[in-house]
Parts: sequence; structure tokens; C-alpha cells
Amino acid sequence: MCGIVGYIGQRDAYPILIKGLKRLEYRGYDSAGVAIINRGRELNVYKTKGKVSDLEHFVEDKDVSGTIGIAHTRWATHGEPCTENAHPHYSQTKRLALIHNGIIENYASLKNKLQAKGYTFQSSTDTEVLVQLIEFIQTSHELNLLTAVQLALQEVIGAYAIAVLDKENPNQIIAARKSSPLVVGIGEGEFFLASDATPIVEYTDKVVYLDDGEIAVIRRDEKLKVVNLDNVECPHDVKTVTMNLGQLEKGGYPHFMLKEIFEQPDCIRDCMRGRINVEADNVVLSAVIDYKKQLLSAKRFIIVACGTSWHAALIGKHLIESLCRIPVEVEYASEFRYHNPVIDADDVVIAISQSGETADTLAAVELAKSRGAFIYGICNAIGSSIPRATHTGSYIHVGPEIGVASTKAFTGQVTVLAMLALSMAKEKNSIDNHTFVNIVKELQQIPEKMEEVLKENEHIAQLAKIFTYAKNCIYLGRGYSYPVALEGALKLKEISYIHAEGYPAAEMKHGPIALVDEEMPVVVIAPHDDLYEKVLSNVQEVKARKGRVIAFVSKGDQMISQIADTCIELPDTMDCLTPLIATVPLQMLAYHIAVCKGKNVDQPRNLAKSVTVE
Ligand code: M6R
Repeated sequence: MCGIVGYIGQRDAYPILIKGLKRLEYRGYDSAGVAIINRGRELNVYKTKGKVSDLEHFVEDKDVSGTIGIAHTRWATHGEPCTENAHPHYSQTKRLALIHNGIIENYASLKNKLQAKGYTFQSSTDTEVLVQLIEFIQTSHELNLLTAVQLALQEVIGAYAIAVLDKENPNQIIAARKSSPLVVGIGEGEFFLASDATPIVEYTDKVVYLDDGEIAVIRRDEKLKVVNLDNVECPHDVKTVTMNLGQLEKGGYPHFMLKEIFEQPDCIRDCMRGRINVEADNVVLSAVIDYKKQLLSAKRFIIVACGTSWHAALIGKHLIESLCRIPVEVEYASEFRYHNPVIDADDVVIAISQSGETADTLAAVELAKSRGAFIYGICNAIGSSIPRATHTGSYIHVGPEIGVASTKAFTGQVTVLAMLALSMAKEKNSIDNHTFVNIVKELQQIPEKMEEVLKENEHIAQLAKIFTYAKNCIYLGRGYSYPVALEGALKLKEISYIHAEGYPAAEMKHGPIALVDEEMPVVVIAPHDDLYEKVLSNVQEVKARKGRVIAFVSKGDQMISQIADTCIELPDTMDCLTPLIATVPLQMLAYHIAVCKGKNVDQPRNLAKSVTVE
């Protein structure tokens, strides 16, 4: 939620800031703004409602010169999306400008205090309160900016990644973090600042990830200094990041989402690379080797996640329970943290998150850690907060996911969960060798089978045209296909704004069947697995009520294909790997319906990629 960028060095800051904002636009796109100090020591703030491209038009005739600046792209929390609420925010005298990602929870009481002292506010944001507070502390005690920021942050309750400019000191950016991500890039005589490394990687591969409670003092021609709120210097590691810049571009596709759907076969290959030993038909996850004792002695696994990652967690539950015979509970991270869960030291908590920054998942990790559980992270964004907060984990290695609707991260998460279940099952002797080898071999075939599914793109695009009229849609599946139904429905609603419900097919008769009529598209995921016959009965129940059935079945299907209105055949695979195949056409279906309806696929309304507020 909200992307922040900063630059100080010898180059013009503006182009670097704008390019950085475009890379971070997935984090929010309600409004955008920049603050730059020019050579005449003027601190210019330009901001506007809308996207980064709107900001570019807005500043066309403005002075954007200067070699130090900060910029922001917003996902509104406090205050509607409008120009006044856009960041950066000036302080009262316009000496300071500040950008913020997070929420200042006690902003109302701080605002009252400042208003009583004569401060006036231009916006309804929590952020403006913080910049006013910093200026108040700075001027009333004649302090330098760093000290004023340290004292102000001691009064703040909430989450923040901030960057502040002071026009009286055009050679310095002060940036601080608590519960919202912040990365400093170290170049030759220049520094970069951003919510993640994507705006930085084309200038330098040297980065420092700030930890909670740390403040970066970024001064022109000086070394980076990191201190805490009590001004104690914090040692910091300079990490090297490698990222293929091509992964940050659309590469000829009309949308990132479509590109990311099509990347899946290669992503799954990358995810398995070095982890599956083809000759030995073995699966090696370093975390399982290093933490074998903690994992194998677990009495129970609890998986915490949100959104699409939560759907992957449901598949993980099936995999771990059936292959390892260890009980698994799946919890929404946002609920888990607030129901005083029973967590024991012999529990293993798995946190799944593409971004590695989801506030609720991170808080669930901290809670479970404080209760003594062993924590395993399954994340995509390298160096993000969740992998750094967990005891161990496995990256999914699918590359940056930019489309707000998660696609390749889901299949990457399921692949890691399958490898985790397989490697633990092997260590635990809960799987016979024949089954183990068969699943491993089949897992290796998944990328090729996904390629076959992707060939259905045109067919699905045609099918999508028929369903743009729909106002509601039901997705049905059983067993491993139930979470797939949930995921298909989520994809449809988030990018096409068609209301969709995912349901276990057999549960339909306990209520949702009342919704079925000739207008209602019912998407059924019905691979040829153990539950096929049961799903066939459910399809018949829908057809008896004149529902329009779109069925995703295994190649050569004989029965459901006879009664469904439309059928898409998918390559056959083992039951436990079905989600890796069956989710892909549902992603394509949602994509093409949204395109037909003229929706902004990559940046759907009201959403943001990285939900760093609770
Ligand atoms: O980064 P995370 O995996 O923790 O994000 C969790 C959800 O916010 C995310 O999956 C969201 O539901 C996506 N928009 C789904 O496409």
C-alpha cells in the first residue's frame, strides 16, 4: 500500500523518481506526487489525483530541476483519493515535505494537540499530522531534522515507512521504518530509496534493507548511517540484489497479468531448479535439511496467509496431511492474530506471502514467534519483511509479480508446498517410494502441461466474450479443486468486478443452488480424479435448474463434456497436482472477461498489490 521513492546524488532526481513510481505503482494508484529541492533551495511539491502518468502531465510546465527528491504513489487509507490527500505533504511553513506508507493510528489526538497550538491542515490524512509534528518539534526546540524525526516518531503509534526533506538542508534525506518496508540503494556518490528494490536495481545492486525502528541518514557525499530512535548507531549489512530488468517490463504483452500467466511454465521450472534431483528422483529443500528436527517433530502445522496465498495454503493442507500425515490448520492471518490462538512450541507455523510484506501475515508471524512456534516462510519477494522475520523458509523464485491479481505466485506457492510435503514425507517415511517417485516425476512434467493449457488462450478469449453479461458467477470444485474454485472466483471478481463465489461442489445444495437459473454461469473444475463421479452429480443438479455450465475437465472426458454447455479439456495429471494445471485456464478466463469489459486489468479499482496495512 503506497510506494515511496527517493534520490540524492549528482543526477536530475525527477526522471529517477518518476520511473521508480511507475515500478511501484502496483502498490497503489489513487494519486501521486513528488517533492524536489532545486538549486535555488526551493522545495517544490507537485501532486495530483490519479496515476503516475497523470502526475507526469501535471508537471509538464513546472520546475522539476534538482538532484534531491522524494516521490509517492498512494493507496488511500485516511482520506479519500484526491489531490489534497496526495503525498508529499508540506509542513506548516513548507520547510519540510514528507511521504509515508502506513498508518499513524493516534493521528487524531496528535492533530488535536497541534491544532490547539495553531497548526492548520490542508488534508484529511494521518500523514500530514506527522510532518506537522516533526516541524513543531524541530522549530520549538531548534533541533536538527534527524533529532526532530526521532522525537516525533517516539510519539507515534502505528506503521510507517517515511522519507523527509528539509529545504534548509538540501543535502540530506531522513527515512525511517516501522512495519512498512524500506530499502536504501547505495550507488557511486548517490543514494536511492524505495519501498522495494525494483526502482533501484537498474542503478545499483547494493542495497540495505532497513529493519523496524531504524532511521537512515542519507547525506550527499557521506556514508550511509543507520540509527535507531534513541540515536544509537545500528550496524547494517549491504546486500547484493540480482534482478532481471526484463521481468519489470511487459515484454510485448498488453498487460503484466497476461505476461505473468504465460511465464508460469518457466517460473515453475525456476522454482524447482536445484531442488528436484532428476537422476535420484529426489526433492531437496535446504530448509528441510537444516531444520529437519523442528519440522518432523511438529505435532501440528498452522498455515497463515491472506487472499490468493490463503488459497495456496488450503492446497498445502491437503498435500501435507495426505503425504506426511501431520494435521494442518489453515487460518486467515487477519483472523488468527485476533482470536488468541492456541500455539505451542511444537507447532510449526507456515506463513505464505507473495510480497512478504502483508501486514496481517507479518503480525501473525510475530505472534506465533512470541508463543515459541517454529516459523517457516514461503515468499516471493527476496529480502522482504516476512522472510526476514521467519526462522527459515523457501522462496518461490517466480520473479517480480506486478499485476495486482496474483497468478504465477500462486502456482509457485503450490509448487513449493508440494516439494515441502514430498521432502518431509520422504524424511518421515510416511510415503512409499513408488508414490514418491511418481509424484516427483509428474511434478517435473507440470511446466510442459502448463504450456499445453496456455495453447487454449484463444479459445478461452472467445469463451470470455459470452460471459461479459454475467452479474454473478459460481465456481465449483471438490478436493484439490475446491481451492482452485475459490481462486478462480477471486480472480474474476477482483479484475472484472463480476460477483463470483467459489464453493465446494457438494455444498451447493445446502444453499447456493437457489441462485442457479438460466442466467447463472457455473464454472466447474472437474478433472478425472477420485471425486469425478460426485462432481458429475453436482453438474447434473446445476443443469436440472438450467444453469450454464462451463466445465474444465481432463482430456478425453466422456461424461461431463456431454452435459456441460462448454467444455475445456486440460492435460491429465495426478490429483494432488491438479491445482497447478486447473488454475491457469481460470486465470485466463478472468483476464479475458476483464479485457472484454474494458477494465484496468493490472490495476483494478480499490486494490493494491502489497497490503501493508491491517
Ligand atoms: O503478498 P501476499 O501474498 O501476502 O498478498 C496476499 C493478498 O493480498 C493477495 O493474494 C491478493 O488477494 C491478490 N490481489 C489476489 O490476486
